[in-house]
Amino acid sequence: VDPSLARLAGLVRDVPDYPEPGVLFRDITPVLADGEAFTVVSTELAALAGEADLVVGVEARGFLIGAAVALVAGTGIVPVRKAGKLPRVAASRTYDLEYGSATLEIPADTVPAGARVFLIDDVLATGGTAAAAAALLGDVGAQVTGFGTLVELTALGGRARLAGIPVHTLLRY
Ligand code: PRP
Ligand code: HPA
Repeated sequence: VDPSLARLAGLVRDVPDYPEPGVLFRDITPVLADGEAFTVVSTELAALAGEADLVVGVEARGFLIGAAVALVAGTGIVPVRKAGKLPRVAASRTYDLEYGSATLEIPADTVPAGARVFLIDDVLATGGTAAAAAALLGDVGAQVTGFGTLVELTALGGRARLAGIPVHTLLRY
């Protein structure tokens, strides 16, 4: 096991019964709060970004990691936001949550058609969020060259919802 990744794993905190009974929540905030660990997350994911022109991060925790990855990769960062936060919207996608649904939006005049985009979030769970973000990028004519996260919850099968997109995750549970 890579010692720097083992150190990251040691900083993740397991929270039983959050946000509801029966769910084991992996809290990554201590990883982000640790300077050495945050540097490892940013540099490892940036190394996987390849020749991407742009990083896109998903609200909210995807902004933190996405901005750091973009800085290391030398690209810009575009936020995919929850509905109602952007003054000018290029595209919207509604997706199903365990209970109910949510809408994600991408800002106008940020992602050029044909751009090679590396998509970032903190956690891949069911994949609904990532699939909606990838669909938005398709709507604006971008090419998603990869998707990267700190944590993947493998039992939830999110990877299968990103068919055709290389998925890179640093820690898998
Ligand atoms: C969490 C997480 C991912 C998403 C993963 O975000 O940050 O974006 O859920 O779940 P999925 O793969 O099942 O879609 P949340 O909606 O809780 O928002 P936050 O980042 O604003 O806290
Ligand atoms: N941890 C952090 N974010 C999440 C999780 C989790 O276990 N599940 C869905 N989003």
